[in-house]
Amino acid sequence: MAKNYEHIFQPMKIGSMVIKNRTVFTAMGIHSPGLSKSDGSYTQRGIEYFEERAKGGTGLIITGAMQVQNQFEADAHSTSIGDAGDDYIKGMKPLTDAVHKYGCKIVTQLTAGTGRQAPFWLTTGEPIASSDELPNVWKPEVKHRALKPDEIQVYIDGFRKGAKVAKDAGFDGIEVHAVHEGYLLDQFAIKNMNTRTDQYGGSVENRLRFCKEIIDAIHDSCGEDYPVMMRYSVTSKMKNFNDGALPGEEYIEFGRDYDDSVEVAQYLEKIGYAALDVDNGTYDSWYWAHPPVYMPAYCNLDDAAFIKKYVNVPVICAGKMEDPEVCDRAIADGKMDAVGMARMLLADPEWTNKAEKGNVADIRPCIGCHVGCLGRLFQGKDIGCAINPQACREKELAIKPTEKRKNIMIIGGGIAGMEAARVSALRGHSVDLYEATGELGGVFIAASSMSFKEADRNLIRWFIRQIENADINIHMNTKVTKALIDEKKPDEIIAATGAAARELKGIPGIENVDVINAIDALRGNKPVGDKVVIIGGGLTGIELSYELILSGKKVEILEMKNKVLDMPDLCAANAQMLNQIIKYYNIPIHTSASITRLEDGKVFYTVDQKEHVIETDTVISSIGYISNTALYNSLSDYGDKVHLIGDSNNVSNLLNATWSAAELAVTL
Ligand SMILES: Cc1cc2nc3c(=O)[nH]c(=O)nc-3n(C[C@H](O)[C@H](O)[C@H](O)COP(=O)(O)O)c2cc1C
Repeated sequence: MAKNYEHIFQPMKIGSMVIKNRTVFTAMGIHSPGLSKSDGSYTQRGIEYFEERAKGGTGLIITGAMQVQNQFEADAHSTSIGDAGDDYIKGMKPLTDAVHKYGCKIVTQLTAGTGRQAPFWLTTGEPIASSDELPNVWKPEVKHRALKPDEIQVYIDGFRKGAKVAKDAGFDGIEVHAVHEGYLLDQFAIKNMNTRTDQYGGSVENRLRFCKEIIDAIHDSCGEDYPVMMRYSVTSKMKNFNDGALPGEEYIEFGRDYDDSVEVAQYLEKIGYAALDVDNGTYDSWYWAHPPVYMPAYCNLDDAAFIKKYVNVPVICAGKMEDPEVCDRAIADGKMDAVGMARMLLADPEWTNKAEKGNVADIRPCIGCHVGCLGRLFQGKDIGCAINPQACREKELAIKPTEKRKNIMIIGGGIAGMEAARVSALRGHSVDLYEATGELGGVFIAASSMSFKEADRNLIRWFIRQIENADINIHMNTKVTKALIDEKKPDEIIAATGAAARELKGIPGIENVDVINAIDALRGNKPVGDKVVIIGGGLTGIELSYELILSGKKVEILEMKNKVLDMPDLCAANAQMLNQIIKYYNIPIHTSASITRLEDGKVFYTVDQKEHVIETDTVISSIGYISNTALYNSLSDYGDKVHLIGDSNNVSNLLNATWSAAELAVTL
């Protein structure tokens, strides 16, 4: 038995499938040409991504949702598994073989699709759902129509055929997608989304008839002992369509409530589902199934523990399952049977091996930003990870030993600089990292300072630990000058000098008011009063307002655009939660607002040419960042040995910082 976390490292059975430990890589759709082929099987790159997670010690891998039919709404990029048949088998066999080599089991997830949640810009086909008139989540004015009974049979046949194809491709079982997250089968299961009067509406048996026909069809084509699991959301956390509940909020459940959940879960077990892979929520409360940094860690664990009391099949729980210690205890206490992880293993494929060895501090922590994964998925791009540039590019960005050891000077100890230093040192270069201040982390220190950003602070700690434990000379409080460069004669110079807060300028009266910037406010460099106006409703402005509200202050936001959080990179799950927070705390937001003048204690602004005034004791400017390029611009004499990365090259997000650093460092 493993020395560390003995409960995680006990074997587990799902039906006839024996899994070596209690770690499950839960499904993540990869529907992009770089990672998956049009027959639905994975490219070599896709296979390497899964293989890396198997190598990392994972007990069970569940591959991303694959459609079983393409007659109705469907993924435009790939065909259905049944139709792909032999091509899919040929394409997936190398994957299942690769994963099995590590003693890891692999199950594929077959989906009945999205119904009213169809992201119509990615899918084809007409808007169908469980019942007539269900509003599309993304475009509520689009109303879906009910599937007819004979149309449901198209799906059932798809599951029957698709499961056999998957079995022939070497998969150890099937996960049915899903009575979870508000997907089509969930719409049948949830009373308020199922107004049917036929055999698919009404009682639990009727609402789950679709699920029963699916499992019967799979057992028919694959044999009674072929394991079939169900992705399951314990409750929906919805107040209404497009209106999610926040953690701790008192509300009346519009979707599946606890009582109904007990009946549904028990019935799923009764009809043969061999495990429940649980979370919470629907797309209307998306941040439960896809928890951003604002959600508490282990956000679905209490509900997993609730449902586990009522079923005998294994319960897997996913959603920010960060710390092996907590996960191990949850298994020991009977709250769940296995730890489900998606982004956790995207961020660190070695989570399981590191846990087993007790190297928990070396697990690279997911910060729930969704920039590399869900955000990119919904833009039709290859998924990846903002903090692990190698994710889904395992070979392309492999950290290989260098053939020529160089002296690499890295200027700036923010995230980009630390990532460049880490990768360069792992490759065997001689690395000197210079940081002008006394702290490592750059602007990310301010960005991670809010009370709800423990995961971000963990990430900084992780980076510092990695570079302190690597063979890197770290020079703190050291400004790089040309004289220093000439003295050290580096072979390569990487400028990672970050960004500074953009200053608010040109507003009449500004010279008489002490406007502070968001970084100073967040870092506590300047005092913040009780009645605050934040100028700028981007991500920093909104997060800062939340933090100030939590500390009991009054905040109003002025935004010149016609909406806040108007950022293409911000994942809808994160934006949705922030918008619910704004609503819940009633944070006054004034959009399309132009500031006309400032006076001591007053901010004047116009909306539609009408002037308004807010009385305030603190004005915080949160209008973005500008690259620190002065040093880089002075280094042109050093030619192409100088490189510019991260925010100093392009003010963006964490993904830009780590990816630009790693992409460069693997080539030097
Ligand atoms: C990019 C992405 C794609 C996902 N695709 C699926 C999917 O196809 N099927 C599914 O059941 N869950 C899907 N999920 C949800 C995850 O399996 C998991 O439950 C969720 O991310 C919470 O776990 P985590 O906090 O470990 O990431 C996806 C999540 C992400 C981030």
